[in-house]
Amino acid sequence: MDGLNPDRHTIKLVHWPQDNHPSILAFEAFILIPHRTNTLSHSRSIAPRKVSQHSWSLVQKGSTGVNAMQLVVVSQERVLIIDKVEHNPLTIDGHPAWASEYNLLTHAVKPVRLQSNSFCAGGSFLGNGTLINVGGNPVVEDHTGAADFGDVNGLQAVRLYHPCDSVDGECSFYENHERVRMASPRWYNSVVRISDGSAMIIGGSIKGGWINNATVNNPTIEYYPPKSIHGSKGNPIHIPFLQETVGANLFPIATSLPDGRVFIAANQDAIIYDWKRNTEIRLPRLPNGVRVTYPMAGTGLLLPLSYEDNYTPTILLCGGSTVDDKTASYEISSQTPASSQCVRMVLDEGGIKKGWEVEQMPQARLMPDAVFLPTGQVVIINGAGSGISGYGNVKDQVGASNAANPVLKPVLYDPLLPPGSRFSSEGLPSSSIPRLYHSVASLTPQGNIMIAGSNPNLDRSEVAYGTEYRAEWLNPPYMGAQRPKILNYKNVETIPFGKTFSLRVENCGDKSQGRGVFMDLGFVTHAVHMNSRMVYAKIIQTADGLWSITAPPNENVYPPGPAWMFFLCDGIPSEGKKVIIGEGHSPPVDEAIAH
Ligand SMILES: *[C@@H]1O[C@H](CO)[C@@H](O)[C@H](O)[C@H]1NC(C)=O
Ligand SMILES: *[C@@H]1O[C@H](CO)[C@@H](O)[C@H](O)[C@H]1NC(C)=O
Repeated sequence: MDGLNPDRHTIKLVHWPQDNHPSILAFEAFILIPHRTNTLSHSRSIAPRKVSQHSWSLVQKGSTGVNAMQLVVVSQERVLIIDKVEHNPLTIDGHPAWASEYNLLTHAVKPVRLQSNSFCAGGSFLGNGTLINVGGNPVVEDHTGAADFGDVNGLQAVRLYHPCDSVDGECSFYENHERVRMASPRWYNSVVRISDGSAMIIGGSIKGGWINNATVNNPTIEYYPPKSIHGSKGNPIHIPFLQETVGANLFPIATSLPDGRVFIAANQDAIIYDWKRNTEIRLPRLPNGVRVTYPMAGTGLLLPLSYEDNYTPTILLCGGSTVDDKTASYEISSQTPASSQCVRMVLDEGGIKKGWEVEQMPQARLMPDAVFLPTGQVVIINGAGSGISGYGNVKDQVGASNAANPVLKPVLYDPLLPPGSRFSSEGLPSSSIPRLYHSVASLTPQGNIMIAGSNPNLDRSEVAYGTEYRAEWLNPPYMGAQRPKILNYKNVETIPFGKTFSLRVENCGDKSQGRGVFMDLGFVTHAVHMNSRMVYAKIIQTADGLWSITAPPNENVYPPGPAWMFFLCDGIPSEGKKVIIGEGHSPPVDEAIAH
């Protein structure tokens, strides 16, 4: 084929199986789709990716000690795992633990002390690098009561955890329910770090249940530290959208946008919320009746932001179900097919006018996890082919699971390729471990994906879809390649917005293309990847092995707080290095309402 630029192109073979000769492959068309940058919605450069002799691998290694309902990477070698109060094998203070710290380098796990029931909390880092874990459940007396576990009600809990970045540091949660708590009870709330480095806590129910309803709905937001804005005096602020979407609207999919506003999707609708003005703009309804938030759990990501198109935001939502949230539980089956739909929209005036662009994943998925690789590709992994989130509610339960038909093979989504060619499963390994309700996946600083959890049960259980403690590691091909290495780096440096600084990099030759990204690996639970973010940085080579890289320009593009910096050489990423973007200050405290 003549006239093709050296770049990535797509060959499509179209084959219609013949009924009478099922074994014959008859090609009806052979289509070559040359890659041209101007066919994309963004003028982004795709880094040439070295065709590598390495392949994907999936390795089962390690045990999480508690079920991995919530997971967050807290330092170069540590992952914090948070569960609900239940009979886990790992113990602390003479009772089963419900949180643990997993060491990425040694695979050792140790229990972490919690006072309150963290079932099902949300979380976020603040601008000063402290993690908050908020909301949860009351004490569940009949199975996992306070007599056995010593736990307290977690519905209004604020649990503070400051990561210790030294290898042998001991870090622990701070809980003081008299002094530090939310203004209202929240079960299944989402958390977003906003442009002043504080956390916006969104929605939830005032008590545990399943599909949300008007009696238990908490259609409000509040902030941590509390803010007295819009006359709230630190009390919850009513959000009409969270009232109107009642039903499948728990664990909203939310993200800070590069103009400081916040995108929120719930049920089959979405808004852009301006927290400074307390106004919401309704976006077009999600197409084809797909509901994307709990219990029809889909997943969502703000696609990578780049200086190359002035940080134009595109939102991606994948999976979920078309089951009506007014359907009685006994009419919903674990076998009801999930949705394979992904939708995306550019969140500027032109993009909103154009509306949602619809794509189909190769397989339907409920409760998928969407995980960025430093290459800008998204791994969609975990979940079920049918049913609905939760346990003990619907007909045809498998064990207690409301969902069935685990999807065992991940799929790769490349947002920069033209529609119709973005999904690929080629070379991706299948697992034998179902990862259903209460499972997670996250990128690690090392660059691979940690997969853990699944527990569609009231308490630890051995029945089909039992409580799963085995961790798995999905290694992209670059894990086996010679990788670039950032040499001049001090642990957790604070990098002011817009600052240009110098990186000394090994294993990246003179003629190579270098890229830099700042990533938030997110707080992961229930298919929601709170604060997951990826921002491309301006970078130029200044000398052999020396690169000059510029931090994100302002607090809207990257809300102040922790980030992982990766350097990519011809598409092969280094390990991530933890930095704090901004000043590292604690978020503003409103003295008038501070107690
Ligand atoms: C609302 O949800 C709660 C919690 O699941 C449940 O106890 C209650 O019966 C529901 N109310 C209605 C009217 O469905
Ligand atoms: C970060 O800010 C929060 C909220 O004000 C505060 O509770 C926490 O102690 C701060 N962390 C550090 C390390 O100062």
